[in-house]
Amino acid sequence: MARLSLLTALLPILCAVLATASPLDDEQVKQFMKRNNTGVKPLLHLARREAAGVKTRHLRPIVETAKRDSITGPDVGQVANFTGSTPEPERGANGASFLSPSNTGIDEENPDNVAPPTTDAGVVPNLKWSMAQSHTRLLKGGWVRETVITDLPPSKDIAGAELRLAPNAYRELHWHRVAEWGYILGGTGRIAAVDSSGKSYISDLKGPINGSDPDIYYFPPGVPHSIQALDSGLEILLIFTDGNFDALGTTFMMSDWLAHTPVDIVAQNFGVNTSVFANIPKTDPYILESTVPPPQLGDASQQAIPDPQGEVPNPYVFHISQQNKTVAPGGWAKIQDSVTNFPVSTMLASALVYVEPNAMRELHWHTADEWLYIVSGTGRATAFAGSATARTFDFQAGDTGVFPVSYGHYIKNMSPTEPLIFLELFKAPQFADFSATQWLALMPQQVVIDLLNISSEVIDTFPKTKQIIVA
Ligand SMILES: *[C@@H]1O[C@H](CO)[C@@H](O)[C@H](O)[C@H]1NC(C)=O
Ligand SMILES: *[C@@H]1O[C@H](CO)[C@@H](O)[C@H](O)[C@H]1NC(C)=O
Ligand SMILES: *[C@@H]1O[C@H](CO)[C@@H](O)[C@H](O)[C@H]1NC(C)=O
Ligand SMILES: *[C@@H]1O[C@H](CO)[C@@H](O)[C@H](O)[C@H]1NC(C)=O
Ligand SMILES: *[C@@H]1O[C@H](CO)[C@@H](O)[C@H](O)[C@H]1NC(C)=O
Ligand SMILES: *[C@@H]1O[C@H](CO)[C@@H](O)[C@H](O)[C@H]1NC(C)=O
Repeated sequence: MARLSLLTALLPILCAVLATASPLDDEQVKQFMKRNNTGVKPLLHLARREAAGVKTRHLRPIVETAKRDSITGPDVGQVANFTGSTPEPERGANGASFLSPSNTGIDEENPDNVAPPTTDAGVVPNLKWSMAQSHTRLLKGGWVRETVITDLPPSKDIAGAELRLAPNAYRELHWHRVAEWGYILGGTGRIAAVDSSGKSYISDLKGPINGSDPDIYYFPPGVPHSIQALDSGLEILLIFTDGNFDALGTTFMMSDWLAHTPVDIVAQNFGVNTSVFANIPKTDPYILESTVPPPQLGDASQQAIPDPQGEVPNPYVFHISQQNKTVAPGGWAKIQDSVTNFPVSTMLASALVYVEPNAMRELHWHTADEWLYIVSGTGRATAFAGSATARTFDFQAGDTGVFPVSYGHYIKNMSPTEPLIFLELFKAPQFADFSATQWLALMPQQVVIDLLNISSEVIDTFPKTKQIIVA
């Protein structure tokens, strides 16, 4: 009690000392100033940087040659181009430079956050999450990192994860409350599962080998399964039909279950002595290494157990490489869903979209949340939330995002040379979208003329079929 009141008495003095201390008295700064190699700059607060002789941004000589954002009128919402210099929150006559250090790497990747287009307005929540920002769980035989509702709160229907398995390693036997969908990002693997009527399934999977499109798979809710990498290892994008994927009661591991059931019960269940289960793992490994390599790619049938119930009626694997492209003016798309071509996938519809350099997935919206995953390339997208609000995002490979149901959006490939490849995912039995161009082309023309003040000659040029991707 006495000690507490002494501390209370000293606190104002302590605070005063801290507030008046010069940055030059700071031990970290002193050490830094003693160094000769000033090329090595520790991350210091602005005051410390000044004290240490590091030039701060506002002391930087002003380059008179060009406006830093490179936007010459009219400003029609184009991306601010900082022409190789540090991005600043400046656009035309608005904004002002940073006085304290910003995270320049993140600013450079997100110019539309730093200097948003003038068409952005209101408060739209963050709709982007980079897998690179996710915590990675390193395990013997691989790793996993997730984007769940705590990372990307607007995504309530879908969560995602990247899973890596070393050659021959397994994702252990498990099942989920929710459906699981997978896209093979790299390598080769094998899945095995049993449905509620005892019908079984085993199949090989391959990633984008030799330039072909990869395989996808789907496990209905509850269906127990395992995934094993073959000799080249395996990396998968996993999608789950619930944003709150880490909630208790969502994932169930076989070894975890047995480790938390009285052993005499386990023994009676399997009709063996209790000693048989003396050496099962006490904690679930999640990923584990294999002691014997599995048969090679293409030899899955060698591992199949004869099943008196037979095979599942609808395959769990879909080979995108065997699907025809839906060709568009600016690229192509391949759609997979339970109504069209992948009957088992009743809770997840998907589209693999290829956008040529400078081309664009057209202005559209959906009847379900769209979960986005950038496979490669760079994209720019604006989410229109209604009520005069909109926000623009910049995406790179490995980024995830969400366009909530009904939000109008587009995705433009920002590269003049590289294609943009991404996945659209929906918790829905069928892929569905609405095209802005098709809508306007098929409305009574006077309605459009009066609203947008454009001529019928212009409207006549709007295609009446969906473009999907415009050049
Ligand atoms: C820095 O340079 C001076 C002069 O060259 C030298 O005497 C001193 O030892 C150097 N200090 C360190 C820490 O390298
Ligand atoms: C940005 O500006 C520089 C210098 O004017 C130009 O060379 C470059 O092409 C511009 N980049 C984009 C993406 O417009
Ligand atoms: C990929 O191409 C190489 C070289 O043509 C070939 O040896 C290999 O079998 C191919 N892999 C697959 C999975 O088709
Ligand atoms: C259990 O152990 C006993 C004694 O060792 C043996 O007689 C019995 O056959 C075993 N039962 C099973 C199911 O293995
Ligand atoms: C792909 O297109 C070709 C040529 O039009 C056709 O013969 C083939 O049946 C199509 N394949 C699928 C899987 O639809
Ligand atoms: C339509 O645009 C023209 C200019 O192209 C303008 O003169 C006219 O006032 C506009 N009409 C309406 C109703 O805004």
